[in-house]
Amino acid sequence: MTKKAYIKTYGCQMNVYDSQRMSDVLASMGYSPSPGPEEADLVILNTCHIREKAAEKVYSEIGSLRRLKKTRAGAGLDTIVAIAGCVAQAEGEEMLRRAPAVDLVIGPQIYHRLPELVTRFVRDREPIVATEFPLEDKFDRLAQPAPHVTRARGVTAFLTVQEGCDKFCTFCVVPYTRGAEVSRPVAQIEAEARSLAEAGVREITLLGQNVNAYHGRGPDGEIWSLARLLARLAGLGGIERLRFTTSHPRDMSEDLIAAFRHNAKLMPYLHLPVQSGSDRILKAMNRRHRVRDYLRLIERIRSSRSDIAVSGDFIVGFPGETEEDFAATLELVRKVEYASAFSFKYSPRPGTPAAEMAFQIDDAIAAERLQVLQDLLHRQRHAFNAACLGRRMDILVEKPGRHDGQLIGRSPYLQAIHIDGRGHRIGDMVTVTIDGVGANSLSGHIRMAA
Ligand code: 5AD
Ligand code: SF4
Repeated sequence: MTKKAYIKTYGCQMNVYDSQRMSDVLASMGYSPSPGPEEADLVILNTCHIREKAAEKVYSEIGSLRRLKKTRAGAGLDTIVAIAGCVAQAEGEEMLRRAPAVDLVIGPQIYHRLPELVTRFVRDREPIVATEFPLEDKFDRLAQPAPHVTRARGVTAFLTVQEGCDKFCTFCVVPYTRGAEVSRPVAQIEAEARSLAEAGVREITLLGQNVNAYHGRGPDGEIWSLARLLARLAGLGGIERLRFTTSHPRDMSEDLIAAFRHNAKLMPYLHLPVQSGSDRILKAMNRRHRVRDYLRLIERIRSSRSDIAVSGDFIVGFPGETEEDFAATLELVRKVEYASAFSFKYSPRPGTPAAEMAFQIDDAIAAERLQVLQDLLHRQRHAFNAACLGRRMDILVEKPGRHDGQLIGRSPYLQAIHIDGRGHRIGDMVTVTIDGVGANSLSGHIRMAA
């Protein structure tokens, strides 16, 4: 009987990508995917450490796995529990002490060693903690999925091109959990993109914690920028759309801004976190940009591509944030006019400089500010969507909708669009006229031939 593995993913898109690659590695060991943890011989939690809430979820999930392990053991079935991702990296040995049900703790830089670690555990039955940052390239050693596996995953895909971060924002764990910034070589990325295209993928989102700082070695021996990489990938047959995320304002180079105008496959959507609209707070966050720089940058990006949808991340309640600082954030949001955004209450993370700062903000005040900010961002998103009414746009059909004949696709601006898709298939690019705007999605009808 083949063994089964279940992977549960928390957090960011890079974790989604990593989970797929782990699943590919496990397939090469004979593990098939399990729909739930109950039937799984190996359960992996791919965890997120970015905010306390995310990290705490992991321990409650381990609690239920402990009970499941017991039940399965009663039926003579063995269950290996592995914790991967950023909580694994940050806590290491500590996880085994706090949660004895855990058998394997595996950091994000070491997934290529999963087969060897699982085999060793099965042999020795000794818990293993593997959280070092190895010298070898994990991507080089991770198995590529079979085409039928990629095909089953749909017409859009993530592809990590850069990992880690050297920016050290004072609130953020990423430089500690994902390590220093590393860019994959162009040829390796191109080969992966080509195999995605061959398996039916039409849209690729390039991933990196600091994706626009990409500086990978090109086939010519030179160091390539993200814009140059995007130009290369735009030439691949079958790939209709390219996106990238997440960018840092400091690394928004001229050639990347120009790519929004010149690269026809690059979609007009940019996630460009600013975190705060107060220079004082930006300095305390070690963001290395001022409000003025960010606004100027948005202007330059919009003069390259006027219809671009700008998205961002915000943190409210950072230590020392006054009412004036918060008002400055609202002011910046009003000036930029975001198409979408993510906003969070500051969460102190062990080991980061901000966690040690004086003047931590009262939770009730932070919650109130978050509500005010989210209301404003929600109104802006709605305004952006409403402005699309009557416009014609190309959508990539991604999946069936809930109703008969309905299909769901994405606009160039990453909005979900519902259409009556009779006669069309997943993976088609169709031109629609937007005729309805809802809270979370738009609807459109397919243009009749003139
Ligand atoms: N508290 C709250 N939000 C955080 N983020 C990162 N670290 C923290 C933290 N300690 C947010 C930032 C970042 C996004 C991925 O998560 O806004 O851009
Ligand atoms: Fe974290 Fe700042 Fe790096 Fe983004 S740029 S991953 S927020 S340290």
